[in-house]
Amino acid sequence: MTKIEAFLKNSIKSLGSITLKDFLNIVLYHERFGYYSKENIIGKKGDFITAPEISQVFGEIICYSLLLSSNKLEQTKSMSLVELGPGRGFLIQDILRTLKKLNLTLYQKIKSIFFLEKSKKYLNYLKNVHTKTIIIDDIGKIPDNYNIIFANEFFDALPVRQYIYKKKKWHEILITLNSAEKFIFSTAKEPVRINYFFPEDPVDNYTFEYSEYMINILSFIFKKIEKYGGVFFIIDYDRDTNQKDATLSSIKNHKKTGIFDDLGNCDISHSPDFSLIEKVCKNYKCSIFGPHRQSVFLQKYGINERIDYLIKKNTALSNDLLLQKERLIGKKFMGDIFKVMIITDQQQKYNFF
Ligand SMILES: C[S@@+](CC[C@H](N)C(=O)[O-])C[C@H]1O[C@@H](n2cnc3c(N)ncnc32)[C@H](O)[C@@H]1O
Repeated sequence: MTKIEAFLKNSIKSLGSITLKDFLNIVLYHERFGYYSKENIIGKKGDFITAPEISQVFGEIICYSLLLSSNKLEQTKSMSLVELGPGRGFLIQDILRTLKKLNLTLYQKIKSIFFLEKSKKYLNYLKNVHTKTIIIDDIGKIPDNYNIIFANEFFDALPVRQYIYKKKKWHEILITLNSAEKFIFSTAKEPVRINYFFPEDPVDNYTFEYSEYMINILSFIFKKIEKYGGVFFIIDYDRDTNQKDATLSSIKNHKKTGIFDDLGNCDISHSPDFSLIEKVCKNYKCSIFGPHRQSVFLQKYGINERIDYLIKKNTALSNDLLLQKERLIGKKFMGDIFKVMIITDQQQKYNFF
């Protein structure tokens, strides 16, 4: 039995059960045995690959969208960039390179670049991204300033609680052990008190996945944007709320695994619910654009033209570039399952579609 398994089993034996959130907190974040203490989790040799790791064009298009749709950005005296869960920092590097090339004046207005990153394994990459880099462990440390914020595949990585709707009541899903001492899911007998964020009128057996931490981060950022201005890009899997089943899943080496398999060595994530993000946002004076499918967003802001241009400049890379494009916008790949939502202040006019 691994150390992490023994630790979890002992906790369950003494408490009777633990919540999914507590289970995930250990499995993902344990300082020595948790998933985010592992080397090389992102990329071809890792467990999964993300859009900025697939192609530089992803960050370039996000930068184009910002420049094309926020024409009053020039008026901001200074601004900060913030990325939530930046991993190796490829996205910001692509955005910075593009911004520097297309609008040097705006680029020079960047006061600081904040990275909210949990994994110590990425800190060396992130420190070297830019001289203005500041690594933070708390979103409360971002400045009272105009902030441009990015979250690509960040919210899906956060530990969630799960609740199941049965006979008009919500019950929390817990983790316990069966007679053979194997981990199993169980449902708490007593119903929970619900809050504003729970779905209204769900079907029986609907499983709601909920991260208080996500709600806190969103609320904090929306408030900051409302007061000081800013733009917030959220790109992630989008939960299909017509499906009642939970979305939590586990992968290792690009292959699906069971949630209780090889604990601490598999990436466990879920699909955030964009309608929940909208619900939080409605409490603030902010504007919401989207969510749009990633394929629609990237095509609207010029992925086809950019890839054609790069192919013309280097025909030897033609196949690679077309493959990168297919992975970002193809229906079988990221195109339809990822959504892009942009939240802005209402103090200036933005024309994101
Ligand atoms: C799926 S990866 C995405 C990485 C990067 N955004 C990309 O697109 O390549 C999730 C990232 O979120 C980070 N992360 C997970 N939980 C976090 C937390 N509670 N606070 C800060 N970062 C976290 C992970 O370390 C990882 O860098």
